Formats: sequence, structure tokens, C-alpha cells
Amino acid sequence: MHRLDKRARHCADTILKAGDIHVVSHIDADGLTSAAIICTALERAGRDYSVEFVRQLDVSILEGIADNNSTLTVFTDLGSGMLDQITKLGINAVISDHHIPAGDCPTHLNPHVFNINGAYEISGAGITFLLARALGDNNDLAGLAVVGAVGDLQHVKHGKLTGINRQIVGVGRESSVLHCQRDLTLFGKQTRPVYKMLQYSSDPYLPGLTGNEDACIAFLKDIGVRYHGEGWLRWIDLNDEEKKKVVTGLMRQCISAGIPAYKIERLVGEVYTLPREREGTETRDASEFSTLLNATARYDRAKTGLAVCMGDRDKEYENAIHLLAEHRRNLVEGINLVKSQGVVTLDNLQYFDAGSKIKDTIVGIVAGMSASSVGNRNLPIIAFANTDDGVKVSGRGNYDLVRKGLNLGVSLNSAAQAVGGVGGGHDVAAGATIPQGAKSEFIRKLDQMIGSQLRSS
Ligand code: C5P
Ligand code: ZN
Repeated sequence: MHRLDKRARHCADTILKAGDIHVVSHIDADGLTSAAIICTALERAGRDYSVEFVRQLDVSILEGIADNNSTLTVFTDLGSGMLDQITKLGINAVISDHHIPAGDCPTHLNPHVFNINGAYEISGAGITFLLARALGDNNDLAGLAVVGAVGDLQHVKHGKLTGINRQIVGVGRESSVLHCQRDLTLFGKQTRPVYKMLQYSSDPYLPGLTGNEDACIAFLKDIGVRYHGEGWLRWIDLNDEEKKKVVTGLMRQCISAGIPAYKIERLVGEVYTLPREREGTETRDASEFSTLLNATARYDRAKTGLAVCMGDRDKEYENAIHLLAEHRRNLVEGINLVKSQGVVTLDNLQYFDAGSKIKDTIVGIVAGMSASSVGNRNLPIIAFANTDDGVKVSGRGNYDLVRKGLNLGVSLNSAAQAVGGVGGGHDVAAGATIPQGAKSEFIRKLDQMIGSQLRSS
């Protein structure tokens, strides 16, 4: 038995012995799927539970939890970074997380403790899936674990899920809840008209097509691919020959625009679908599912997303679809703002300050989507947005920069700490909250720190 499974077993035993159970999870797709996995496993084990979603853990939230310590708290997709405080406050806890940990304890389930990379080999939902398997027969939850991993962009580094994620994909296939195949990686294959899928592509950025509706329709006409039947055709409506024509056409277009080969290769990769979900809906495609979840959780409606993960295709699903439309509008507005405002370029990073114009919970997504279309694609992008308790910072890099030494989790953590804030995350994506007024000092420190990371490799 792998040491990680042994630890999962111990955590599961702790849960099964506990009285009341309270689940605390993170407000993103990985956090929601993590919560859905543990809550489903608890229901199946005949256990009652309560659930709470938070943006990030801080001491005041932990103090609230500590006050109610007759309960066992199960932290999912967060908690590892606050392990010291959790222990100090004497909180009775199981922590199932994949962020870089501050310490360890016997009820702490985290891949980093076992030298497994939590940025791309397993997600919060993945590690919680291991916990659920230790709680009972829960193999059919592998689909949710993959949605969480894809939501955290864990498939991007190698164009497919690797490491323990790969084993989870295997379990999902065996249980007939997951299908994987090489396909176009663009977003919206289930639900968007093909021309819209091209038009909205930001990663990879399609020269001459991204952002230009007329050019996308002309491109499809030009290569002889139907884009309109009784209604607009989606990717899933095209036949194999047409799909091939689109892929070849896009590659040609990128080559003639001088896009480097390794970036063009990213047009095709492994994609994950959930065959038990209805065709043409958001929940059928792992990537679209994760966006649907973000559209709930990032707007204080995590419980709606949780209900969808746990099978609601009725009222809460409809609510989620409405929230998704709003989320899309906000993202487009946010990207347009970054485009018109531009970015400030320093030696080792670029940044923009959205003030109160972009909601702090989606500024990281906007930063990620803007990185390929504004400023310098060879620098990480840092975004600022106002929040109630200071300034929210989001950092997004890419794997070329990570190979050169970039670790945003480490650099955002130390730059934030240096100005009295908190920060952390993964090498390629990280966040922080810093005090109002600390921005210029923070960005100066961060620029220096990223500079030394990039020089050190
Ligand atoms: O908030 P944002 O989306 O920018 O966060 C990017 C990543 O960094 C997420 O995985 C988040 O959990 C992590 N993060 C963290 N500590 C923080 C802020 C963000 O670990 N203080
Ligand atoms: Zn996560």
C-alpha cells in the first residue's frame, strides 16, 4: 500500500469515529468538487455533515471553528498552509489538501508530504477522492476528481493528466464515469457554436481569429467546414473529417503567424468527458464543468455549485447556468478593461491594478486569460483588485517560466509576508492578500524575488 493510501486510511478512520462533521472547502472548482466528493462519501456512509466555503483560511475563521470543537472539521482543498495555526488552536481536524504545507500531522493528507507534486500530479479533489475511497466504495466519484484537477489546470503542463491523476483517470474509465481522448483543447466543445469557440479562444491565442467573429466564420468557410445547419453547429456536431480540417487549418494559421511549434502543439491534447452527463451540456466536458462551478463559487453561490456536483440537474443547475452567463459577461468586461488599461512592465513581471472594477474572486481568472493577449507573454502577470480586507493579488505564469525557475507560490508568499500580508499557492498560479497601501513595496519585492528565481536555474 502506498504511504499516501495508508494516511488516507487513517484519516478515514478518524472521520468514521467522529461525532458531528463539518466540511470547510475552497471557493473554486477544485474546492467544490472536493467538497462534493467528501459529502457524497459521508452520505453513503450514513453520516450527517455541514458544509462551509471560504475564500481562504485566516486566523479569525480558524478561531470560529476552534470555538465549536466538539465537531471534527474536514478541510478540503485548503488547510495545509495553516496547519501550524490549526494545531495551535487545538482544532480537531482532517486536512485533505494539495497546497504547499506548513508542517504535517497524522490526519493531514497532502501529496507534498510524500514527495508528490500537488501542482499537477494531484488536485484537492483528487486527494479527497483517495480519502473517499478509504471511506467506502466511491470509485464513481473519479469524474468529479478529474473536473477538480482540470479546474486547477493540472492537465496543462503535459497536455494530459499525469502522476496520480492518471491513476484516477484509469479508475474513472473502469467505472464508466469518464472518457478521455486526444482532441482540440479549445474551450466550449459541448456548448459553443464552433465559430464562437474559435473567437473566444484565449489559450492558445489564435492569431487573426481570437476576438474576431467575422474572421472565424470566414476561416470555417474557407476550409470547407459546416458551421451552420438548422442552428449553429458545435464542435460535437462536426464529423471526424471536419474536425481534422479545423485542426490542420488552425495549425497552418499559427505556423504562418510565426507561433513557436511547442505552443501550436498545445492545440491538441487529452480532453476529458463525463459520459453519464447529457451531450451538449456544460457538465459533459470536464473543462466546461469546472467553469460552471467557478461561476457559482466565485459569486458567493458555492452551495449551488455543490448541488450540481452532487447531481442536481433541476433548479440549482438552472441557477448555475444563469450565473455562468453573468460570469462570462464579467470575464469579457475584465479582459477588455485589461486591454484598454494595459499592463505595467517591470524587469521580471507585468502587472495591472483593476481597483474595484474587477471582482477580487475572478481577477485571477482574468489575469490568466489576459496573459496571452496583452503585454509580454514571457513574463508572469500579476493582478491587483480591492477587497474588503485589503488588496487581493493574483499571479499567473506559464510552464516555460516554471522551467526557468519561476515559483509564484513561493515568491508571492514571501513578498506578501514582507509587507504584512498572506500569500501562497502553486508554482504556476498563486495568490495573496496584502494591506491597503502596501502595493508598491510589494511589487518591488516581488519583482526582485522573481528575478532571482529566474536567474537561479
Ligand atoms: O486566488 P487565486 O485564484 O489567484 O489563487 C491561485 C492559487 O493560489 C489557488 O490555488 C489558491 O488556492 C492559492 N492561494 C494560496 N494562498 C493564498 C491565495 C491563493 O494558496 N493566500
Ligand atoms: Zn485546488
